[in-house]
Amino acid sequence: MTTTAERSISSNTVQDRVIDAVDTSTSSNSVLSIKNLSVTYGTGTSAVAAVKDVSFDIAPGERVALVGESGSGKSTLAMTIAGLIGASSGASVVSDTLEFEGVPQQPSTRRSVPSRTDGIAMVFQDAMTALDPVWTIGGQFSHVLAGAGVTGRRARADVTAHWLDKVGLHDVGRVMRSRPYELSGGMRQRVMTALALCGSPRLLIADEPTSALDASLARGTMELLQDLTREEGTALLVVSHDIKLCLEFSDTMLVMYRGELVEQKPATTIVSGATHPYTKGLLGCVPTLANRSASRLPVLGDFVTN
Ligand SMILES: Nc1ncnc2c1ncn2[C@@H]1O[C@H](COP(=O)(O)OP(=O)(O)OP(=O)(O)O)[C@@H](O)[C@H]1O
Ligand SMILES: [Mg+2]
Repeated sequence: MTTTAERSISSNTVQDRVIDAVDTSTSSNSVLSIKNLSVTYGTGTSAVAAVKDVSFDIAPGERVALVGESGSGKSTLAMTIAGLIGASSGASVVSDTLEFEGVPQQPSTRRSVPSRTDGIAMVFQDAMTALDPVWTIGGQFSHVLAGAGVTGRRARADVTAHWLDKVGLHDVGRVMRSRPYELSGGMRQRVMTALALCGSPRLLIADEPTSALDASLARGTMELLQDLTREEGTALLVVSHDIKLCLEFSDTMLVMYRGELVEQKPATTIVSGATHPYTKGLLGCVPTLANRSASRLPVLGDFVTN
């Protein structure tokens, strides 16, 4: 049976978009189960089929990396899972199965606030625009924690301090009093990670959490995500362009190409077992010591034709 799930999002602020966690019982073995999910923006001749018939599962605690070229539909897929893409963003969402912890995701009936999927949290692609520019970081935490059921200013301040410290922002008081523009890009990324994790989600979706960071900070962020999700037993879906980092920090690799999921393999076998030309291209373009003497490094065009 085909179900159509349409969800609403009406705000760009993190307070309205971070999705918190409450207990949800389930009999499913997968934390996330998707079968034949398609997302189309617009209608008629201007329609864009951003996600086409995508199917995959995520087990509790599994770390999954989603890679693919710009415009291949990664963010659309990630935000659809989080319940943030739907009719009010001009998209139609169709799937045979779209379940979180065995519970079918229902279309939101509220237009004024985005739908919330309890237990899923998201780190958005652009930490600067995802954080509310006029609220202090402490205020943004307070709002999210109130939504997660943490009552009392003192309790919320304690939880905030705990998570800021955990992501390596040890000058907790200053960070809490700061507005996003008073922090560096790397600090904002960490704030986003802490905000997403403070509600103890069972699935964390991180959309390009390292794109604004230099190589060492990017590695540090991936290590942090790995450590924190391992500690909490949280499943992780990381969207990234950095296939090398993903191979190192993920259990499973998903490769998207023009809206389709063209490869789905364990990180340990994808290098030798890639079947799709785009995956082979992605892997073939990673500079290695072995090709240091080559007069020309491989490019994607050597593997895929338009
Ligand atoms: N709100 C929207 N309305 C119409 N089309 C959209 C919208 N958001 C995304 N798209 C289109 O959907 C396709 C997939 O976009 P998406 O943002 O999911 O790609 P992506 O893989 O995340 O890319 P990037 O790596 O650059 O972030 C693109 O063709 C894009 O133009
Ligand atoms: Mg994106």
